[in-house]
Amino acid sequence: MLTPENLKAKKSQGEKIAMVTAYDFAFAQMAEAAGVDQILVGDSLANTMLGYKSTREIGMNEMLIFVAAVCRGAPNTHVVADMPYLSDKDPQTAYDNAMRFMDLGAASIKLEGTPEGVIEFLRSKDIPVCAHLGLLPQTAENFKQKGKTEEEARAIEEAAKFVDSLGCFETVLEHIPEELGKKITNEVKSVTIGIGGGKFTDGQVLVMHDALGMHQRKLPPFATKFVDMFALGTDGFKKYVDSVKVKP
Ligand code: KIV
Repeated sequence: MLTPENLKAKKSQGEKIAMVTAYDFAFAQMAEAAGVDQILVGDSLANTMLGYKSTREIGMNEMLIFVAAVCRGAPNTHVVADMPYLSDKDPQTAYDNAMRFMDLGAASIKLEGTPEGVIEFLRSKDIPVCAHLGLLPQTAENFKQKGKTEEEARAIEEAAKFVDSLGCFETVLEHIPEELGKKITNEVKSVTIGIGGGKFTDGQVLVMHDALGMHQRKLPPFATKFVDMFALGTDGFKKYVDSVKVKP
């Protein structure tokens, strides 16, 4: 399993890092078999797995079930557990919740933005932290690209340097201009993982349901569908239905 140090070494060697989300045992097994470097159990599971509109709809109880399943399915892969909305509302709450993930086998935790004193406290307890900057789905008013104005770009860049200085080993950069992703990647020691952050980040992450074509919704502009699992699955179910309905 890749450690935060291994991942940072990959950055310095210019080797790209492939992260994908997965939420359950079977898909974690597939991701591990495919050789992904890191699996993110994202709170996007609120949308993809549970059908909620917002990631704010879920909490620790749901996340723990999915993180445990992924850790069982991919015991040799670095699993990043996403802190759900308000689970990191203050340093002690964040630490207690992060420990619940680490006890299940997660290798690190991810949190959105820079909640007051939280990253400092987690790092003081040696919890490996992946930051998340740019578009922050838990609190965003809309899903438009962030960092388009000079002021917004500067704020994201400053936040990236700040979390780097606090010892985050990795930072997810979501839906920001390519040039900003490149600038930040060159300026920080931590590994940058883009999702709509352009091609210059140290690695990329995609939501599994987008990458595998598991739904029929319009993809976000930065996502690629590598296989049409919705069609494959529907076809398989149809074949099953037909086989059952054949008259003996
Ligand atoms: O929850 C998630 O899937 C994420 C990715 C969008 C990075 O945070």
